[in-house]
Amino acid sequence: MKLIAPSVLSANFADLRADLEMINRSEADWLHVDVMDGVFVPNISFGFPLMEPMRKYCTKPLDVHLMIVHPEKYVERFCDAGAWSVGFHLEVVDDPLPILDLIKAKGVRTCLTINPDIAVERLVPYLDKVDMVLLMSVFAGFGGQKFIPETMDKIRYIRQEIDRRGLNTLVEIDGGVNAQNASELFAAGADVLVAGSAVFGAADPEAVIRAMKS
Ligand code: DX5
Ligand code: ZN
Repeated sequence: MKLIAPSVLSANFADLRADLEMINRSEADWLHVDVMDGVFVPNISFGFPLMEPMRKYCTKPLDVHLMIVHPEKYVERFCDAGAWSVGFHLEVVDDPLPILDLIKAKGVRTCLTINPDIAVERLVPYLDKVDMVLLMSVFAGFGGQKFIPETMDKIRYIRQEIDRRGLNTLVEIDGGVNAQNASELFAAGADVLVAGSAVFGAADPEAVIRAMKS
């Protein structure tokens, strides 16, 4: 699959509705929603109050990426707030399975994610228990960072593992993605590309989204 999920983190919050309407018009597949708690990551983004306008004005599925400690406390509220998919970081929990069950019980798609310093092999036991895995290609916390090239081998590894077992688990890549590296990432086995600054920082964001898909 070749899906593009622009990250709303880089949108203009003073005129969020205009950016959401641009996303609706564009060829973007999902809207990626980055929630940061200032504890797991050294940055705070936004929470439930912004889920409301996003659910109301965005016609694309909301792909929620929780960069928070204790995701078990909040996953259900994000499901109720209109998330189409909810992901959290493997490295912040002892056992992700009960938390995945909370999300599944809400009928929402699940995602497990890891920062670049976490061994990609740690995702393997969960590949058949989630809808998607998200490999961070920068350290979670900020938009506008440079893509970490070592991510390429991790994409190939996890793609091979998913295909070998005949699974449908999607592979999402997040951080430093742009129109220049998108085709290489898809070729390596990515299904979903998240892009924040490359999309919202562009003079013609719709053209960038189109370029990333083709
Ligand atoms: C980073 C977030 C990303 C971020 C990507 O912690 O998870 O989704 O918005 O931004 P860019 O595309 O600018 O690297
Ligand atoms: Zn993200």
